[in-house]
Amino acid sequence: MREKTWIFHSADNAKCLFSLWNQWCLCYAAVVCLLFSPVRTDDACPSSCVCARDSGTVTCRDGEDAEVPGDIPVWTSTLILKGRNISTLQRGAFMINGTESDMTTLSLSYNGIQAIEPYAFLGLPRLHLLDLSHNQLESISARAFHGLLELRSLYLNDSLLPPATMQLSNALSTQSLHNLHRLELAGNSLKSIPLMRLDIYNLHALVLINNSIESIGPENVTNLYQLRRIRVYLSLNPFRCNCELEAFYYWLKNSSQCPDAQRVLCSEPEAKRGVPVEKLRREDVDCMNENLEAVSYVFLGIVLALIGVVFLMVLYLNRGGIKRWLNNIREACRDQMEVYHYRYEQDSDPRLANVAV
Ligand SMILES: *[C@@H]1O[C@H](CO)[C@@H](O)[C@H](O)[C@H]1NC(C)=O
Ligand SMILES: *[C@@H]1O[C@H](CO)[C@@H](O)[C@H](O)[C@H]1NC(C)=O
Ligand SMILES: *[C@@H]1O[C@H](CO)[C@@H](O)[C@H](O)[C@H]1NC(C)=O
Ligand SMILES: *[C@@H]1O[C@H](CO)[C@@H](O)[C@H](O)[C@H]1NC(C)=O
Ligand SMILES: *[C@@H]1O[C@H](CO)[C@@H](O)[C@H](O)[C@H]1NC(C)=O
Ligand SMILES: *[C@@H]1O[C@H](CO)[C@@H](O)[C@H](O)[C@H]1NC(C)=O
Repeated sequence: MREKTWIFHSADNAKCLFSLWNQWCLCYAAVVCLLFSPVRTDDACPSSCVCARDSGTVTCRDGEDAEVPGDIPVWTSTLILKGRNISTLQRGAFMINGTESDMTTLSLSYNGIQAIEPYAFLGLPRLHLLDLSHNQLESISARAFHGLLELRSLYLNDSLLPPATMQLSNALSTQSLHNLHRLELAGNSLKSIPLMRLDIYNLHALVLINNSIESIGPENVTNLYQLRRIRVYLSLNPFRCNCELEAFYYWLKNSSQCPDAQRVLCSEPEAKRGVPVEKLRREDVDCMNENLEAVSYVFLGIVLALIGVVFLMVLYLNRGGIKRWLNNIREACRDQMEVYHYRYEQDSDPRLANVAV
């Protein structure tokens, strides 16, 4: 329809080039173009998607496409893609015609995403929330999150496979994420906090529920103390409750920065399994205590050994006296035996002997 208008007016233009009508025609054409072209793009909704213009929401579910739809309407503020087979997020995957968009929410859960390439989220400077949960991420570029200057919430729960876990801390260390308020990393078999630093963000919530964290070391605890606003969620992790956990133990008790502290439980040693870390006794996590105990056993051993040596020395030095003493004893014994022998021979009838005794 627009093309027809164009052709009609181009023909017209040629005719009235030399008349005053000419100006009017051009104006008319321009107005027609301005009025009609946006209307046409507004109505377009990508195939297999549902568009709600009022709320600015485009929802695309369970498509066969292995790609992000290329024709996302410009008015989109929330884009939800779910149950599609997107294996790779390519550079600028969400740019609309190579230009920036005003999108604020992007939900990409359950899409089987395996790789995020550099600058995948280019052109989304106003994005507030990015949900990448429940994918199978194997590789995340160090520049994956580049340009997400307004990002406040990043969800990555149940999404990371081991190779991506290694790359995540690099990807998250970009200065772009300095507005990040909430980072969810539940269910990723993480063994430690996958962040090199905490002070480059504006974190209020760090969710590390249901991972494989056994211990949080003193350096990390010190960093957590410094960020008063941060809340760290840590339930469903297999904490190893020995004296290395001391700093963390006091942080749990002292700081109230862990809202689910009651559900932060020991999984080792066997004797303390299921005990909340914050309910341990001070002695249980006291390295001084443990060391002292070890030291005292060693000390006891040394003392016993010394006593043994002294005893042997005494024996050795007194060997003459002891020999004499042993001889005396032997002699005494012999005398006794002789007396006994003698008596026995005299009372040849044992019964009589008994009566005599
Ligand atoms: C997803 O796409 C890849 C190729 O991009 C293909 O090998 C795979 O079979 C697809 N999986 C499903 C469930 O459609
Ligand atoms: C994108 O740009 C092409 C030309 O570069 C244009 O034909 C098309 O209508 C544009 N699409 C949108 C959604 O703006
Ligand atoms: C996981 O991500 C979803 C968003 O997809 C969020 O609503 C949820 O609270 C997250 N956390 C957990 C622990 O499941
Ligand atoms: C914990 O995470 C695993 C994946 O690592 C998931 O399969 C399981 O359902 C999660 N458990 C809970 C209680 O959320
Ligand atoms: C946690 O501690 C390790 C060293 O033990 C360090 O490499 C890492 O950067 C620390 N992370 C945070 C967030 O403090
Ligand atoms: C707070 O932690 C320190 C050790 O860092 C400890 O000495 C102190 O007793 C703790 N305070 C409370 C109330 O647990």
